[in-house]
Formats: sequence, structure tokens, C-alpha cells
Amino acid sequence: MEQLMKDFFLFLSKNQGLNAAAKKWGLRFGASRFVSGETIQEAIKGVKDLNQKGLCCTLDHLGEFVFSVEEANESADYCIKTLEAIHSSGVDCNLSLKMTQLGLDISRDLCVTNMRRILDSAKKNGNIFVRIDMEDYAHNEVTLEILRELLQDYDNVGTVIQAYLYKSTDDIDSLKDKHPNFRLVKGAYKESPQVAYPNKADVDENYKKIIKQHLLNGNYAAVATHDDNIIAYVKQLEKEHNIPRSQFEFQMLYGIRTQSQVDLAREGYRMRVYVPYGNDWYGYFMRRLAESPANVKFVLKGMFTK
Ligand code: FDA
Repeated sequence: MEQLMKDFFLFLSKNQGLNAAAKKWGLRFGASRFVSGETIQEAIKGVKDLNQKGLCCTLDHLGEFVFSVEEANESADYCIKTLEAIHSSGVDCNLSLKMTQLGLDISRDLCVTNMRRILDSAKKNGNIFVRIDMEDYAHNEVTLEILRELLQDYDNVGTVIQAYLYKSTDDIDSLKDKHPNFRLVKGAYKESPQVAYPNKADVDENYKKIIKQHLLNGNYAAVATHDDNIIAYVKQLEKEHNIPRSQFEFQMLYGIRTQSQVDLAREGYRMRVYVPYGNDWYGYFMRRLAESPANVKFVLKGMFTK
């Protein structure tokens, strides 16, 4: 049943008609629990509130289904506006983005040009770090290739490694000498068993494996999870291997396990909240519903009690 629900919401997340309609609706159906607002002003206000609780942030201007050069360039402009707003407001925050938003499906060159524009602006605006979110398997190899290229000229860029992929350990090894800053996650997309572990227990085991591998390589890890077992495992690694807290951080999504976020910050860990904003919230919201039946219950309750 849970798997069926997951597939259903992942299927809905790809519906372009609903996506286009949702842009006109404003944040609905409880989406505001997971999306901080539609405008940059609302997003910066959300980040300030989180900073006051001892949490640092990463802002993501939401965007799906980019098919034209104009849309890709506009998306990059939004990223630059976000960087400028982060710098001018003085918040403790960096940027996350998706390369398909910057035109990766239109042309690799267009995407790289937009990435360079963004990274130049990030440098100019206080050397802000820019994280390339990892999308589905079809974009995995090209994302890593572009990262390799960008790392030759920039030190303020990193990406994400997904534990569900069989190739994740090899990817960490092949990039270790470049000292990449990786966000490590379990993986959010529906992938074939030819490329990804189909069983959750195997994903969890491999997740532990890549966290250890990356940290013991001496490289910076952003461990992005809401899973208490994984968080406990990282704390255990920290003790066993004397890993300095400056070498890793925890990350969670806006609106999810908010008390745990504050608790980890109070324990002295760097805790970063992923804060999405913008009117293109529909696909992101559907993927969060796919992740957790508890979220579906929350949304249904909200729909029927208003
Ligand atoms: P798991 O799914 O096992 O959940 C553990 C527990 O956490 C659950 O039992 C539940 O209590 C709670 N929980 C988890 N998800 C929840 C939710 N949505 N709502 C409420 N409770 C929830 N993926 C990807 O493929 N590419 C990427 O770039 C990123 N980026 C990213 C950034 C950040 C900051 C986070 C936190 C996650 C991602 N992800 C991602 C998503 C990631 O791959 C994964 O799908 C989710 O984090 C869920 O996995 P968990 O590690 O939380 O564990």
C-alpha cells in the first residue's frame, strides 16, 4: 500500500497540467508547511526565523519543466537574485539548484554557461556555496561530469551522492582527490533495480557505507536525512574516528522534523535546513507526499478541517 501511494504521488509530481495550474493557485493543500513562500522576501524572512533558532539554511528557488532557452536563463537569473538577497540581508544561508532548471535538457553548454554565471555571482556576493541537487539517474553522470569541470575553476560548488545507486561508492572514490563537498542522501527518485537498490534495508546499509567512506577520505559531508538511526550512526563515527564537527553538517527539509533540527543545533552540530520557495511548488510538494504517509495524513487533515 505504501509503495502504491509512493508511486502515485511520484506519478502526480510529473503531471505538467497540474503543475501549470498550481502556479496560479498560490500555496494550497498544506504546501506552505513544506514551501516557505512564493516570493524572495517571504523566503528570506523564513531563513531569518530559522537562523534565530541556530539553524543555517540553503535556499532553493523551485522550478520544474524547463523547455526553452528563455526559461533556463530566467531560472538562472532567479538564482542570482537569490544570491544577491542572501548577501544583502546577511542571512546564514547558501544556495541549492537543479541543473535541469538551467537548461541541462536543452543543451549542456547552456547549462554550464548558466552555472558559471551563478558561481561568479556567488563569489561576488560573499563566496556563497552552491549545491547542485542530484536528479534522476538519467542526469547523474552528466551532473558529475559538469561538477568535475566546474571544480577546476571554482571552490564554492558541490553536488549530491545518492546511496540507492550501486555506483555511489565508485563516484565517491573517483572524486575523492578533488576534495568535494558532497551532500549524502538516500535518494528520492523512482529508479530501476538495474541501477539502484530496490530494498530500503540495502539503501540504508549503503548510506552508512558512503557516509563513512566520504568522511574517512577527509572530505566534507552534508548528511541530509530525517532518519534517527543514520544520525546516531554519524555521531558514533564522529566519536570513533575523532571526526571534527567542522567536517560535516546535518541537513533536513523545511517543515520536517523541526524539533529534531533545533535539538541537533543545540547539541552543537551544524544543522542546515533546505528551504524551497517560489510559485512552482507542485512537483516538490508531491515528492514530499510520496516520501511519507504521515505527510499525506497531515494534508488530508488540513483539507478537511479548513
Ligand atoms: P527515510 O525515508 O528512511 O525516513 C526516516 C524517517 O524520517 C521516516 O520514518 C519519517 O519519520 C521521517 N521522514 C522522512 N521523510 C519525511 C518526509 N518527507 N516527511 C515527514 N517525515 C519524513 N534526494 C535526491 O535524490 N537528490 C537530492 O538532491 C536530495 N536533496 C535532499 C536535501 C535534503 C536537505 C534532504 C533532507 C533530502 C534530500 N533528498 C534528495 C531526499 C532524500 O534522498 C530522501 O528521499 C529523503 O530525505 C527521505 O529519506 P530519509 O533519509 O529522511 O530517510
